[in-house]
Amino acid sequence: MTRTLTLRRPDDWHLHLRDGAMMHAVLPWTARHFARAIIMPNLVPPVVTPADAAAYRDRILAATPRGSGFRPLMTLYLTEETQPRDVRAAAEIGLIAAVKLYPAGATTNSASGVKDFSKVRRVLETMAQVGLPLCVHGEVTDAEVDIFDREAAFLDRVLDPIRRDLPELRVVLEHVTTTDGVAYVREGGDGIAGTITAHHLVLNRNHLLAGGIRPHYYCLPVAKRETHRRALVGAATSGEASFFLGTDSAPHTDAAKLQPCGCAGCFTAPNALSVLAEVFEAEGALDRLEAFASLNGPAFYRLEPNAETITLERAAPEDVPAQIDTEDGPVTVFDPGMALHWRVSGG
Ligand code: DOR
Ligand code: ZN
Repeated sequence: MTRTLTLRRPDDWHLHLRDGAMMHAVLPWTARHFARAIIMPNLVPPVVTPADAAAYRDRILAATPRGSGFRPLMTLYLTEETQPRDVRAAAEIGLIAAVKLYPAGATTNSASGVKDFSKVRRVLETMAQVGLPLCVHGEVTDAEVDIFDREAAFLDRVLDPIRRDLPELRVVLEHVTTTDGVAYVREGGDGIAGTITAHHLVLNRNHLLAGGIRPHYYCLPVAKRETHRRALVGAATSGEASFFLGTDSAPHTDAAKLQPCGCAGCFTAPNALSVLAEVFEAEGALDRLEAFASLNGPAFYRLEPNAETITLERAAPEDVPAQIDTEDGPVTVFDPGMALHWRVSGG
């Protein structure tokens, strides 16, 4: 049985770091395993201008543990007021690595997102010209669409028309949760990729809802039925270049999660790599973990893979706390509901 596995240092292509005390508490957990991360801009207020992104990047760098070498890859939050010239300038100086599209109302702090997609066409056209990827939260928000169907409906109603209109636009369909999303990415050619989270590789909707509601498993897009989870495992472990890791690690305090109307998000930064190794091992695909976690993402973002490596070892279970403390209150670490045998050595 394989006991150690050395990979290029992974990156996280979808991460919520928050700000202030929460950021200080969660950032070290990402920086100890990941070299880079695409930083989500859904702060309150959101990161909408290049100046917002530069200031947020500087706060992240100031909070980054010394010597970790962690590099935040910044994004702008797309609104109907976003200026094409700002996006172009921010991309050209390397300030941003992507722009994030939240349909208005789709998820946490998405109220400033896009309602009328015709209003962002010029920005998208500029992005297509400069090759800047659009990161997409792919769910429609219409109240009449069932929450389990919102990803598939988004592909048909929103994303496909945009991509037909602007075939050069490079798109990351984030946190894919359905067979439809997997198929759409697979059939979409070089211009589209999909990120997959660690938690969606191990959760189906029974884990969330059967035998009691488990608020710490509530995230968006919501976990789907088992056939969809299997499709995600198939895509992630396939080695195909269009699928890579985006943890969507999304910390909320327990007080915010354990509410009559609790927040969406799983905090997976501490154990995402252990969960992945477990899933890949069970599929006999440990040799493809590096493609998923460390190689396919940089290739899509047109960056070099990291030169450094990390080594995972199959040893005693990873020593991850059940909760971490923050000045805002405790945050529960994702519990995959299974023993984890892999840990990052020295991490
Ligand atoms: O579960 C989620 N949490 N999904 C999202 O899209 C947003 C995120 C957050 O910011 O908490
Ligand atoms: Zn997210």
